[in-house]
Amino acid sequence: MMQAGVTLDIQPDSQALAVQAADFIAAQVRAKPTLSILVATGNTPMPTYAELGRRAARGDIDFSRVTAVQLDEYLGLSDHDPRSLWGWMERSFVTPLGIRQSIRLADPAAFEADIAALGGIDLAILGLGPNGHLGFNEPPSPPTAPTRVLALTPASLESNRAYWGELSVPTHAITAGMNVILSARAVLLLVNGAHKRDILRRTLEGPETPDVPSSLLRRVPLTVIADEAAWT
Ligand code: GLP
Repeated sequence: MMQAGVTLDIQPDSQALAVQAADFIAAQVRAKPTLSILVATGNTPMPTYAELGRRAARGDIDFSRVTAVQLDEYLGLSDHDPRSLWGWMERSFVTPLGIRQSIRLADPAAFEADIAALGGIDLAILGLGPNGHLGFNEPPSPPTAPTRVLALTPASLESNRAYWGELSVPTHAITAGMNVILSARAVLLLVNGAHKRDILRRTLEGPETPDVPSSLLRRVPLTVIADEAAWT
């Protein structure tokens, strides 16, 4: 039995997950065409973004008035570095969906002021770090943790290695704070694969604790779409 405010939707595989997540996001954009979306990169949401891109290309949905807001970024990279998470968000989400406005995460105070000027985040699309991190809110991250620069934990350095082949993983990052994530009007958490099973259980059924930042999502309107491998 899930907590009030939490919806758990289990899909047979990652492709079905992507279709379901695309439906959820598209419904939100139809209800509010000026939706502001906090956008995770990482592997999990890529099929969802590809599905949304196909729908946008067909003219099924119009993202032109949506604002994309960057969730996290490594420190110390040039704009054209292939590891730039800004670049990844542009390639996978902003460009294929036809989004015209995006907010970049570079300076914590300016970023939070930009979000306030936007009227807050309507929807946060998040992946789940293997240690429960959200963006790069590494454990422990209390609910008040602001947008900030921090050193990546060994677990995050290890999981991020999968993205970059021979390239190293930068040691420091900047992340939208837990304060930003927990102020979102809705959160969509996407989880797939057996390697996420333990942390998904701790997210939804363990104690709500800064030691598992994702467990704090249970205090906001949360929809989790997971595949069977991540839950059963
Ligand atoms: C990464 C990123 C997060 C991402 C998460 C899960 O370290 N900082 O933004 O959501 O971990 O990544 P993946 O979807 O590749 O499992």
